[in-house]
Amino acid sequence: AVIVVVYGGRSAEREVSLQSGPLVAKGLRAKGYKVVELDLYGPDAASDPIAQLQSISFDLAFIALHGGEGEDGRVQALLEMLGKPYTGSSPLSCGLAMDKVLTKRFWQGIGIPTPAFLSFVGRVDAELIESTMSYPVIVKPSREGSTIGINKASNREELDRALISALEYDSDVLVEEFVDGAEYTITILGDVAYPPIGLKPAPEHQLYDYDAKYLADDTQYLLPCGLSDDDENELQKLSLEAYQSLGCSGWGRVDVMRDRAGRFWVLEVNTAPGMTSHSLVPMAAEFVGVDYASLVEKIAIDAFT
Ligand code: DAL
Ligand code: MG
Repeated sequence: AVIVVVYGGRSAEREVSLQSGPLVAKGLRAKGYKVVELDLYGPDAASDPIAQLQSISFDLAFIALHGGEGEDGRVQALLEMLGKPYTGSSPLSCGLAMDKVLTKRFWQGIGIPTPAFLSFVGRVDAELIESTMSYPVIVKPSREGSTIGINKASNREELDRALISALEYDSDVLVEEFVDGAEYTITILGDVAYPPIGLKPAPEHQLYDYDAKYLADDTQYLLPCGLSDDDENELQKLSLEAYQSLGCSGWGRVDVMRDRAGRFWVLEVNTAPGMTSHSLVPMAAEFVGVDYASLVEKIAIDAFT
């Protein structure tokens, strides 16, 4: 079987994907698969992704794109149209999970705890934010990844700055209640939730942000995460429920906050999580004895069946 590893893309997360893709390809080759690498939009942003995909003969697409059309269901829909199997979730689930506002509304409707928020399209009403929420708040573009464009604001000046920053990435913006506590991330493979990883950015990072994710070497990853067995089970169960409620399948990663009272708040689901050497999914897999190559093989096999 020939597997095409699709990476690159033209989202703000292109650089991350350029790290994920070749590693995924290397892992699949180590397992004996014939692999073709495809840098989507690689020649230039005007290149035709449909022609790029059609120029290759393959049996399965491993999607190692992050953000934009690679994670929001568009590439997945294209592969459906071409009649080719691919890794991860369906176009609908990808689209839903990529949109934090829609995801949170959906979860609110079915009782999955997610931090309270306000959402805006294009024009933001800072007065409304100040009259209904209290600082600090987290400002996010609705459809971005890797914490790009996300900032914490503790006063009006920071709020105005954070809104401008978020609006650079998306016309849809959400302002979320800040959960004071610790962040955890849970890898899902098939219908199994892997052990949570606790994330502890160095104090100079206000959040587990882009730099803490990909550049800093002082971010601490807690694995085992340090929670009691009961809490860890609850966190895994909640994460799997949040993921499956969006119809996600194959693999993904759920990000969750735990407040100081011990309550969990689900932030989002990533349907094409990072697979770089710094990334969390390979870390969680390694912890349960699944090395990188075996992990990507598992994801590919799940997509074949
Ligand atoms: N959006 C990045 C790649 C992640 O979730 O890992
Ligand atoms: Mg994300």
